Amino acid sequence: MSRRRIIAGNWKMNKTPGEAVALCNELKDLVKNDAVDVVYCVPAIDIVPVVEAVKGTNVHVGAENFYIEDKGAFTGEISAPMLKEAGVEYVIIGHSERRDIFGENDILINQKVKKAFASGLTPIMCCGESLALRKAGTYKEWIARQIKWDLTDVTADQVKTLVIAYEPIWAIGTGETATADQAEEVCKMIREIIADLYDQATADAVRIQYGGSMNAGNAAELLSKPNIDGGLIGGASLKPDFGKIVNA
Ligand code: 13P
Repeated sequence: MSRRRIIAGNWKMNKTPGEAVALCNELKDLVKNDAVDVVYCVPAIDIVPVVEAVKGTNVHVGAENFYIEDKGAFTGEISAPMLKEAGVEYVIIGHSERRDIFGENDILINQKVKKAFASGLTPIMCCGESLALRKAGTYKEWIARQIKWDLTDVTADQVKTLVIAYEPIWAIGTGETATADQAEEVCKMIREIIADLYDQATADAVRIQYGGSMNAGNAAELLSKPNIDGGLIGGASLKPDFGKIVNA
């Protein structure tokens, strides 16, 4: 089963609109690769200029977050129709920073996954365990529970186009990467969970990324694993190194 590789940058809360356009121009030639889906998930205010800046290139644009209603009294939020009209194709859902800092739970995350699909956006749905759960040895149960909750009432056809990002929280922004074997163990387990919840064809189609201190030096080994179909990259997506990850 060959799945198309997907390398996505999560810019987090970095880059003003002007800086965002400059980064797109800096990376333009470095991220060329017709065999890979390349996505920049950018802050809401950068979406419009970034869509413009990557026109005519192989780069797709994603959002980092959205809210489940189309419009109304939801101060500070941005809706799926707004993202769609602006040219956004992907949206990160359930990042550990949204869960831990902004209190998002699996009920809301599940609503967001369903709303993204209903709106024609492809979710990059994140899961992953804390250091405490890793040390306690209960990380597999935790991740399995996240996947089941977050995919409640999501159809097999939808899951076939889904992107799941496994991001161990202890490896995010810490410089400590999961080893390729640790990452592969969980990505393989996630695929088995999808096979259990749906069927083998769905499990074979879903794309699973690793995220957490992925960089130009460790990307090739992580991406060589059979169940790792790409990466969700924070810090290294803001540098020319991102091109090396795309072409790893
Ligand atoms: P870093 O690559 O900076 O560790 O961030 C990973 C991440 O959270 C991507 O969503």
